Amino acid sequence: MLTANHAVEAPGVLLSALADARRTTDALFDIVRCDSFYERPIPERHRIVFYIGHLEGFDRNLLKGRLLMLPDSSPDLDRLFAFGIDPVGGGLPTDQMSDWPTLERVRAYVRQVRDELDEGLALMGEDFRAGGGEFSAALLLNVAIEHRLMHAETLAYMLHRLPYDRKNAPVRAPSPAPVPARPTMIEIPSGAAVLGLPRNGDAFGWDNEYEQCSVDVPAFAIDRFKTTNAEYLEFVRAGGYDRREFWSDADWEWKQANRISHPAFWETGGDGAEWFWKGMFGPIPLPPDWPVYVSHAEANAYARWAGKSLPTEAQWQRAAYGSPDGHFRKYPWGSQPPDASRGNFDFADWDPVSVAARPAGASGFGAEGILGNGWEWTSTVFSPFPGFQLFPFYPGYSADFFDGKHFVIQGASARTAACFLRPSFRNWFQPHYQYVYAGFRCVSNRLA
Ligand SMILES: [Fe+2]
Repeated sequence: MLTANHAVEAPGVLLSALADARRTTDALFDIVRCDSFYERPIPERHRIVFYIGHLEGFDRNLLKGRLLMLPDSSPDLDRLFAFGIDPVGGGLPTDQMSDWPTLERVRAYVRQVRDELDEGLALMGEDFRAGGGEFSAALLLNVAIEHRLMHAETLAYMLHRLPYDRKNAPVRAPSPAPVPARPTMIEIPSGAAVLGLPRNGDAFGWDNEYEQCSVDVPAFAIDRFKTTNAEYLEFVRAGGYDRREFWSDADWEWKQANRISHPAFWETGGDGAEWFWKGMFGPIPLPPDWPVYVSHAEANAYARWAGKSLPTEAQWQRAAYGSPDGHFRKYPWGSQPPDASRGNFDFADWDPVSVAARPAGASGFGAEGILGNGWEWTSTVFSPFPGFQLFPFYPGYSADFFDGKHFVIQGASARTAACFLRPSFRNWFQPHYQYVYAGFRCVSNRLA
């Protein structure tokens, strides 16, 4: 059984979750060849070395003074590793390799921060709900753990773009046989979708998950499965990338300026006739039954070509967690905790599987592959729920992105930790970011 929520657990469980999260991110950096830590696989992001320091710098900046009294041992590195970069339409970073500390110094900083934090946490009392100040230890530790695990996923996107010969490939099992999916749509009757978390509950949630609200959703139909590579290939072959009518003005401008003509996870063979999936460790002949991973702009263009649209966040939530009996489920499949039979998540694999590979994860209405195997784009612009209050210890986490330029994605990918498999968790990206493990399924308001 996976640990899906450690919010109200005992201190030992939280400390062990922090140790597990550290092991997860350490293992991720192990796939980078030792001569490649100063590479920048995504032009808009920091070099890899930043993220090694950032994970500890974040924990230290978060906990220092709020939970633990810590010495000012490396204030320059605490500042250097404080923040990442969001790539919305701005200029690219111009720093040089030589601007960064040596790997030895960064690794020493990581060791020192961990030692100081662990020593301080070990001296704390048993009650992690109380803590010593304005915020409970349990809240701050959940923030540290989930921040690290979010980076475990976004770092995987980044390392995906690192050339194959700069990575240490693990020994991998051969890909399973294809599981064909017959594309169908499911009719969802009108009814409510419940979004967010109640503030008086004791489950952990980020600031944007509050407060809970109910939304009335008219009847609609939704794809049973995520859109596959095979389906998307039909759009590509139909000239979808060259047909202006399927793209918004901003999306067309972006596509033209960047000469985008296919998903970033696809590449052609030498003769250009055959498509390959750009896997984490090597190319794979394009698996027709895997979900396609594309930007919001490309997903939207496909949906228009297909005569459909992307779901709103409320439609997606209703299809995922609603049921014909009117109850809302904890997970799409019911209340049983997540395990590998329900979906491709919690670092189960480096790549997707067939969209039809986990029928045991189907929702009450019969939508399959809701959690895992790739996030799903929605048409909803990321904005606060009524009653939103930012986390004062991390004011930019959500509020910096309430700018009308980011769209909500829902679900999970193969590299999403189990703790994020809660209905209220929201993720968001700008519409032209192609590197997320995100695909989509379509909806239609025209019922049969
Ligand atoms: Fe971060």
